Amino acid sequence: MNEILSVKNITVAYGELVAVKNVSLELREEEIITLIGSNGAGKSTILKAIIGLLPVKEGEILFNNKIIHSASIRTSPDELLKAGIALVPEGRKIFGELTVKENLEMGAFIIKEKKKIEDRLEFIYSLFPILKDRSRQKAGLLSGGEQQMLAISRALMSYPKLLLLDEPSLGLAPMVVREIFSVLSEINHKEKVSIILVEQNAKLALKFSNRGYVVETGSIVLSDSSKNLLENQKVKSAYLGER
Ligand SMILES: Nc1ncnc2c1ncn2[C@@H]1O[C@H](COP(=O)(O)OP(=O)(O)O)[C@@H](O)[C@H]1O
Ligand SMILES: [Mg+2]
Repeated sequence: MNEILSVKNITVAYGELVAVKNVSLELREEEIITLIGSNGAGKSTILKAIIGLLPVKEGEILFNNKIIHSASIRTSPDELLKAGIALVPEGRKIFGELTVKENLEMGAFIIKEKKKIEDRLEFIYSLFPILKDRSRQKAGLLSGGEQQMLAISRALMSYPKLLLLDEPSLGLAPMVVREIFSVLSEINHKEKVSIILVEQNAKLALKFSNRGYVVETGSIVLSDSSKNLLENQKVKSAYLGER
């Protein structure tokens, strides 16, 4: 399987503070990988660098074998959305004053053909029927779980090939989390969308993914198949609450 994304030895900083140092990872087409790690480890920073919200100081990131970020090259989030990368940010960041449908349409701003947008809306509504029922309501009135469904759906409106998810399960009830992850699984299978999942819920993330990377203080300290990581003693005691 071809590599869709390749992160090579990147360093990312907030001003003087180096938050991510010498991080490398790969993602193959149709693969799901996860980044697990404690709060402040650098997971969101890695996603922000991939989507172009933060500059890469050293190293490079390739998407479909083309350099999208390096010390001298930078690609904007909008350009990357057109190229097929969409981010579902931490905390959802939906527009509460706009309706559900308007939020979804915003996710399709790069698409010009009206028919293509309408088709996609119908597809999204088939994934999450509740969004169809609520399409005319203000997004701010949705429950937390419905807002997360909306945030994911908005990202899917642009027909991405790579979906970046930052803590999608945070604060949600187990039943809603199951529904969301079952849709993500469907998207991965049917539409061949590759996924990078960032989660503090390591058990959930490792059960859902093919491979995982453990991030500690800005570096990757361990990477393996998710199956092996679930059995790893260090992962068990540090991240799964098991002995
Ligand atoms: N906007 C910011 N300005 C300065 N430092 C930041 C900013 N965002 C995150 N950091 C720091 O970068 C490090 C990594 O943070 P982050 O990537 O958000 O971690 P995670 O997503 O794993 O919880 C932390 O030390 C955090 O305090
Ligand atoms: Mg984070």
